[in-house]
Amino acid sequence: MPSRLAVLASGRGSNLQAIIDHFHDLGREATGRIVLVASNRVDSPALLRAATASIDIASFSATDDGSELLSLLGKFRVDVVILAGYIKRIQTSVIQAYAGRILNIHPALLPAFGGEGMYGARVHEAVIAAKEKKTGVTVHIVEDEYDRGPIVAQWVVPVLDGDDAESLAARVLMVEHIVYPRAVEMVAALNHQGFTPPS
Ligand code: GRF
Repeated sequence: MPSRLAVLASGRGSNLQAIIDHFHDLGREATGRIVLVASNRVDSPALLRAATASIDIASFSATDDGSELLSLLGKFRVDVVILAGYIKRIQTSVIQAYAGRILNIHPALLPAFGGEGMYGARVHEAVIAAKEKKTGVTVHIVEDEYDRGPIVAQWVVPVLDGDDAESLAARVLMVEHIVYPRAVEMVAALNHQGFTPPS
């Protein structure tokens, strides 16, 4: 039986789409199944993508003590939570209940260029301002501190001469779409075998 996955997204949902497509392509070989896509924003395009793929959708409060999200995850018997452009902090009660079973993707090589306020274009602007020659993507387990927690996968992306935040973001995003679905697949398989990543 595949691991039951919930994807939380606040924005456009391109990583969600990549995960949906990847698991669809795997068919019966899939180690996980997205049983729920939920957002703190009812107008998130990610919800539309999920509905189009016939996946259950829901919205929840990101500012309560976590009980709304926890009861949603319980109702759908979720094993692993995947953050895909989810902008809010996950409440401590949820992190504790799903210790080692919440994944996030960050568009840089953590621990560099991470932390509170480091999201979207700001990450790539900071990378360019620091004159870095390389950046990348990081998939990690979510812990209480922003952008911390054990790293599950990382891939380096070059910063090219003349890059601006937009061109760099596009190159990084292309890599995210390849790396994240496969990292999710790996964690789903491990969870299924009882190997929960350390937290
Ligand atoms: C991605 O760059 C991801 O690394 C970050 O938020 C962005 C989400 O993009 N956490 P999308 O909504 O998946 O298109």
